[in-house]
Amino acid sequence: MNRYRIATIPGDGIGVDVTAEAVKVLDAVLPGLAWTEFDWSCAQYLRTGSMMPPDGIEQLAGFDAILLGAVGFPGVPDHVSLWGLLIPVRRAFGQYVNLRPVRLLPGTESALRDRGAADLDLLIVRENSEGEYSELGGIHNPGRPGEFVLQESVFTRVGCERIIRYAFDRAAERSGRLCSATKSNGLIHSMPYWDSVFEQVAADYPGVETRQMHVDALAAEIVLHPDRLDVIVGSNLFGDILSDLAAAVTGGLGLAPSGNIDPAREHPSMFEAVHGSAPDIAGQGIADPVAQILAGAMMLDQLGESAAAAAVDTAVCDVLGAGEVRTPDLGGKATTAELGDAIAERAAALMR
Ligand code: NAI
Ligand code: MG
Repeated sequence: MNRYRIATIPGDGIGVDVTAEAVKVLDAVLPGLAWTEFDWSCAQYLRTGSMMPPDGIEQLAGFDAILLGAVGFPGVPDHVSLWGLLIPVRRAFGQYVNLRPVRLLPGTESALRDRGAADLDLLIVRENSEGEYSELGGIHNPGRPGEFVLQESVFTRVGCERIIRYAFDRAAERSGRLCSATKSNGLIHSMPYWDSVFEQVAADYPGVETRQMHVDALAAEIVLHPDRLDVIVGSNLFGDILSDLAAAVTGGLGLAPSGNIDPAREHPSMFEAVHGSAPDIAGQGIADPVAQILAGAMMLDQLGESAAAAAVDTAVCDVLGAGEVRTPDLGGKATTAELGDAIAERAAALMR
């Protein structure tokens, strides 16, 4: 029997529905996981004035991993929900890697014409602790004629180097190809610095073939020539945008998982779908649970349970490939729970 203690934060909207399905599937492959649920959410914010209690970080610190649904709901500004929960957890726990694998799953269609699974298999490594998502700045002369806003970016030597090195390590394990997202023509301080760190780290990896592309051209490359790309490393903002784009050109947001990872393993890592709380379909029971289930598989992998993780992954591929149980985003009529049940049943069979 395993002894893993897992915190779940289902959050808001469809985060609640898809987290329930991920828990169901993980219980089916690895009995005995000890779950503790925290109801931190926008609903809690509206009741108490904060997204999580003041000692929220300490409460989470003792867990082996965190499974997060999604936070954000109309009525609470997005910067409140994000900075009140998600970003503090990522930063307090040294989760400086946001890992977002994007691939075309069996039985699903790409938004791109004539593209198959061999063309669409990317790993986006997003910087998750600094960069453009910074609290430095503010509004000046508010309400007066000279009103202006400053939003600073922070690129530290340590922060750039460790994420770029992490991406080189992944590229070396996979295809040996790494593309860095830059914008050194427009952002004349931060991005030339990012590029120079990239070049310095590259010198340690002679076996990895590198490209550096402006993020706008790279966005076009993902649409036009995804087969030429494999691992992509980007700053917090660029990685965020590119991973939604990459998810959209494969089977859609309902299928893309992510991990907020502390490679030092000093703190719990946190796993979640790339998508948000989808208020437009919340409460209807039709959200696609696959992204969250695959995030659960990434969590098992990080915990060292690679056989169970592989069973979940294969079960997702088998069920989607069979094409009988699909949620509406994939062109079917199944509910969130029906797809979760089918994947859990298949995953359990694979473990027997
Ligand atoms: P979203 O990802 O929630 O939804 C975008 C579109 O994709 C919607 O049409 C939605 O119905 C669809 N979609 C997303 N996930 C789906 C799924 N599993 N199955 C089927 N369809 C799905 O992004 P949006 O609308 O920009 O944000 C909604 C809220 O979520 C906001 O409050 C935002 O701040 C928050 N958010 C939270 C994130 C997190 O907790 N990590 C990440 C992104 C957004
Ligand atoms: Mg995003």
